[in-house]
Amino acid sequence: MTTLLQNPLRAGLRIDRLPKPVIMVIFGASGDLAQRKLLPALYDLARERNLPSEFTVVGVGRSPMSDDQFRDRMHEGVQGHSRDFVPQVWEDFARGLFYFAGDLNQPEFYGELRTYLEELDTKRGTQGNRVYYLSIPPSSFPVLLESMVTQGMAGTPETVRIIVEKPFGRDLKTGQELNAIVSRVFHEDQIYRIDHYLGKETVQNILVFRFANAIFEPLWDRRYLDHVQITVAETVGLEGRGKYYEEAGALRDMLQNHLMQVLTLVCMEPPAAIEANTVRDEKVKVLRSMVVMDAKDVALNTVRAQYSRGFLGGKAVPGYREEGGVNLESITPTYAAVKLHIDNWRWSGVPIYLRTGKRLAKRASEVSLHFRESPSHLFRRYSTHPTTDVLALRIQPDEGISIRFDAKVPGPDITMRPVNMDFRYGTTFAKKSPEAYERLLLDCLYKDQTLFARADEVEYAWKVVTPIIEQWTQGTPADLASYEAGTWGPKAADQLLNRDNRHWRRL
Ligand code: BG6
Repeated sequence: MTTLLQNPLRAGLRIDRLPKPVIMVIFGASGDLAQRKLLPALYDLARERNLPSEFTVVGVGRSPMSDDQFRDRMHEGVQGHSRDFVPQVWEDFARGLFYFAGDLNQPEFYGELRTYLEELDTKRGTQGNRVYYLSIPPSSFPVLLESMVTQGMAGTPETVRIIVEKPFGRDLKTGQELNAIVSRVFHEDQIYRIDHYLGKETVQNILVFRFANAIFEPLWDRRYLDHVQITVAETVGLEGRGKYYEEAGALRDMLQNHLMQVLTLVCMEPPAAIEANTVRDEKVKVLRSMVVMDAKDVALNTVRAQYSRGFLGGKAVPGYREEGGVNLESITPTYAAVKLHIDNWRWSGVPIYLRTGKRLAKRASEVSLHFRESPSHLFRRYSTHPTTDVLALRIQPDEGISIRFDAKVPGPDITMRPVNMDFRYGTTFAKKSPEAYERLLLDCLYKDQTLFARADEVEYAWKVVTPIIEQWTQGTPADLASYEAGTWGPKAADQLLNRDNRHWRRL
């Protein structure tokens, strides 16, 4: 399955070659992401022999730390979050980890960093190749980027790449500004905007499922589909990120990026080739065809809500406003549901409903395509309840694909019941999928941008989401619905579909 998505060149090379020796410089290395996601992913890549022996990581952060202290900290993260911890592999991998402390807001710091990296090049044989990973607030970007120019650290697409973590701005204007700042220093071929949803196997499989099989694609349009639902439901709350989340809310944290990325893969036309720019061109076309809402549409077609106290897994959990770092009168939404329209030949008249929320009843991410009712009334009177056929792509957990359709219950009478045909990754492939960050970091080392967002993609996604943000910001606290933690969200979200005679799929 992955072969199709790999750059053909890379697919051919992978058996006998590795990415070039490189130093990955992680800015913001004392944060959570490095410990819980990045280092475990890099370690797993090393364990599976996907990295060259010269591969080197330099953590950069404000907190002073020795190399050994940094290694100890990462050791904890790798032991807790990697797929298979092997002490001997860790020992070898840890020898390539270093830490360099300093204040990222001081231009002088970058001169010291440059000298340090050049010395490491000599020690580790990394030949001046760099991947800069920006896991820092965008407010630190200008000094960092300008200093890189002054210090001659920006290199060429051959030697230097930069990975940028979300948020890519707060709205259209700041998203454009951010893109402009980064692109003044780096060429688009060097910029890797990471959205970890694109690294998930099941998300990548959307393209394979659609375009490698002949039976689904002919049904994939307004002639046969009634509507599409995309759900990303989480049971977790803020996980200590109250301050960040207060600023972000559900739209910026999840919908503008992860859900929109999934939407574009579900709705795009077949690309001319599986190559970074052809795939991204098609994704952009979907975003450009999306109907941008005015104030009236926002009032009618969006729902926002915040969780109150409740129970999850039998345990009492606090309400959003009781979480650390959250304002007692906060009106930040932790749940968003929106009805979107794509105005093109394939999708016109087929609404796409998106919903995402924290502290919901179950962790479940899924895309479901709901087919129109059959035109014939032959069997309608035998059905105990109206059903439509549904094709569901389960992103996580219990990754798989299922088709729901009606079947006759055995017996002399005609009685019908919906049944499922199910494909499960776990049982079919009997092998654990790599983590999203593994796939994406490796792609970046191989200079494959297919699974990274291009500047225009990010901006068009903001074009769709910004009017919603603006209307929500102007609203009154009374517009914010509430839902109890551990439930499926506010009633208003059910009404969004019920008034169209539809229902959210039960997950
Ligand atoms: C992150 C969001 O991008 O994605 C988090 O900032 C969210 O708030 C996370 O919990 C969800 O990712 P996953 O892979 O657990 O579905």
